[in-house]
Amino acid sequence: MANIISGKELSARLKADMAAEVATFGAKYGRVPHLTVILVGEDPGSVSYVTGKAKASAEVGIRNTTIRKPATIAEEELLGIIAGLNADPEVDGILVQLPLPKHIDEQKVIAAIDETKDVDGFHPLNVAALWQKQPCTLPCTPKGIVKMLKTAGVEIAGKRAVVIGRSNIVGLPVSKLLLDENATVTVTHSRTRDLAEVTRGAEILVVAIGRPKFVTADMVAEGAVVIDVGVNRDPETGKLCGDVDFAAVEPKASVITPVPGGVGPMTICCLMENTIECFLRKMQAR
Ligand code: GUN
Repeated sequence: MANIISGKELSARLKADMAAEVATFGAKYGRVPHLTVILVGEDPGSVSYVTGKAKASAEVGIRNTTIRKPATIAEEELLGIIAGLNADPEVDGILVQLPLPKHIDEQKVIAAIDETKDVDGFHPLNVAALWQKQPCTLPCTPKGIVKMLKTAGVEIAGKRAVVIGRSNIVGLPVSKLLLDENATVTVTHSRTRDLAEVTRGAEILVVAIGRPKFVTADMVAEGAVVIDVGVNRDPETGKLCGDVDFAAVEPKASVITPVPGGVGPMTICCLMENTIECFLRKMQAR
């Protein structure tokens, strides 16, 4: 039986601590942190993430503005909105929900966000700082994953960690964070040969590939720590499921994260933390 890490419980504790801290900001700084989220289009997954971000903001006492725009918005108009938010001294964090419609250049949009308001940690200057081990805003999902591992008492140093997926949002940055914790990291992807053989060598397995129940029991070593980043619909039941076949893998794992209620809530929790950090950096620089 694995230790199942509840991201839901851990994030609830961390949000309560943050709420207590934010409650002191009015008196100290004259206002609370302000996060602005931009949602383009109506992708159901994105709508649900954005709603979750607004709900968490309310719990922590962070002011949240959600700007909703149709999928047909011109790139120029979106860049104009971002320029306005960059210039607004009462906005501390700017998040553009991804993915964006095909006619909009995602990298251009990310680079347009003032890096000091980049609560996602996706701006090229934040990414460069991460890879040079300089102070920066860490991307939320990788940050949440390392927090979960540490809270569960998982020793990372010296371990063989395997990451499935090489995205800018999860795979690459979580690989770097695990490397910084002194794991020996292998990044695998769709072109990896003999993937199951590689994953069976993992003491820590992070799965961020976006395919329902992709990781089966034969791909996991006895006693492995398994972190499931996937949020998918099970094609058979229509229910939410991860990238890991939880029922089959859980008996073999020593530690595992569930979907839902695992990595997802921790991502949002780290977004709240990043928003507070951006706010405090600004306030303390005054
Ligand atoms: N889409 C999926 N994950 C994320 C995330 O962490 N940030 C943003 N902005 N969009 C996402």
